[in-house]
Amino acid sequence: MTDNSIKISVTVNGQHHELEITPFETLLELLRNRLDLTGTKKCCGEGECGACTVILNGRGVNSCIILAAEADGSEVLTIEGLGEGGKPSALQQAFLDKGAVQCGFCTPGMIMAAHYLLMSNPHPTEEEIREGLSGNLCRCTGYGKIVEAVRAAAEAAGKAAEDER
Ligand code: FES
Ligand code: FES
Repeated sequence: MTDNSIKISVTVNGQHHELEITPFETLLELLRNRLDLTGTKKCCGEGECGACTVILNGRGVNSCIILAAEADGSEVLTIEGLGEGGKPSALQQAFLDKGAVQCGFCTPGMIMAAHYLLMSNPHPTEEEIREGLSGNLCRCTGYGKIVEAVRAAAEAAGKAAEDER
């Protein structure tokens, strides 16, 4: 490590890490290169496509334009942190069930953006889903199946909450 290295601590998917990073390292590079969390994808590297979306302190962000140093003391959730016991989350399963995954490159970022959308708005309209995912680009699906998957996951979560009452 060089003299200008920076020590940070960050919690990723519930696991605490103490790391030495370089000043211009991005959060995306930290996740992929240091923690081997390669589910988060790099595509444009400029904050334009959403492939690198993660949840940072409860907000959906493009990790390619966040410096790792900015994440010091933060909590990060990545695609690997969804689901439990090796099983996909309901949202991940809905993407599979509705055929919303084709080449899959956009999928982790799309799911994290959808996860953030449903955290902040559990019952989104179709327009709100399209708006919520507007920063995430997909070259394959035409978006219809992605919107359907998010709506199905939201409906299933709403029904599950009603059944618990
Ligand atoms: S890779 Fe980060 S927004 Fe495209
Ligand atoms: S599934 Fe291929 S880019 Fe979205």
